[in-house]
Amino acid sequence: MRSPIDDYLHGLLERCRAQDGGAVADYIPELARVDPELTGICLATIDGHVYEAGDTHVPFTIQSISKPFAYAMALEDAGVAAVEARIDVEPSGDAFNSISLDPASGRPLNPMINAGAITSTSLVSGGAGAGVSGEERLGRIVAGLSRFAGRPLAVDEDVAASESATGHRNRAIGWMLRSRGILDGDPDATLEVYFRQCAVGVDCRDLSLMAATLANGGVHPLTGERALAREHVQQVLSVMTTCGMYDAAGNWMVRVGLPAKSGVGGGILALLPGQLGLAVFSPRLDAWGNSVRGVFACGELSRDLDLHFL
Ligand code: DON
Repeated sequence: MRSPIDDYLHGLLERCRAQDGGAVADYIPELARVDPELTGICLATIDGHVYEAGDTHVPFTIQSISKPFAYAMALEDAGVAAVEARIDVEPSGDAFNSISLDPASGRPLNPMINAGAITSTSLVSGGAGAGVSGEERLGRIVAGLSRFAGRPLAVDEDVAASESATGHRNRAIGWMLRSRGILDGDPDATLEVYFRQCAVGVDCRDLSLMAATLANGGVHPLTGERALAREHVQQVLSVMTTCGMYDAAGNWMVRVGLPAKSGVGGGILALLPGQLGLAVFSPRLDAWGNSVRGVFACGELSRDLDLHFL
């Protein structure tokens, strides 16, 4: 039976489909093959109800939405002090792929831009000094993301290969980090893990449950499994709030007012702590790399359901 929330989401889906701006990401050639009209919306409550409308079971790659989760794993595996010694928590106002470090500290400004995210990846499983191979580090990341989703996830090898073949800007960032002593060991090995982390396949329902797991203090609402120690949830949500939408973070905060993260695969994940997780999938992106329909849908949801936390 359709609930009032189902009816609301189906109405919102139609309003989303009327938004036709933006363009599919094509700097990773494999991403350009997606149907630009796909649109899905999911809302998952912390007591385990999942409401869905549209293309919620179509797989796409997680891309930058992996960043807060890899940051969370770095905090758990390397410890807060070691992570903060290498990655700051300040909004940058720069594009996600900007080649920049904080001039004063020499660290990436935050874990949501690529420089910080590549550093997080290098710190999962305790960092390069921990004697862990790239395969093992990737295994830890995929298993960690799977715990957040509540089902086994896997790398889309075609997207990973496509990003690796074209990821020269990220390699430049990796070597810059190596030159400043932020990355240890071979940056190319870390970058291959990062490319494959970004290519983990999810669907809109997975993302809503990953968001709901964060909203639920780190425990998955359906499996009951703990995906993240409660003590690290606040730090992850704080950087999502200030940096999750990159240089559009201020506008997002005014209009939506929820911790969030977007990815160039077309996903956006957002959450209201203690209440619910939201996810929207629609691959056409705005100038900041955020899904046009995703930003629209989250703005409408925030206003209509009174979700803005301020
Ligand atoms: O680093 C990259 O280029 C991608 N794999 C991830 C970028 C991304 O999703 C940016 N977010 N909107």
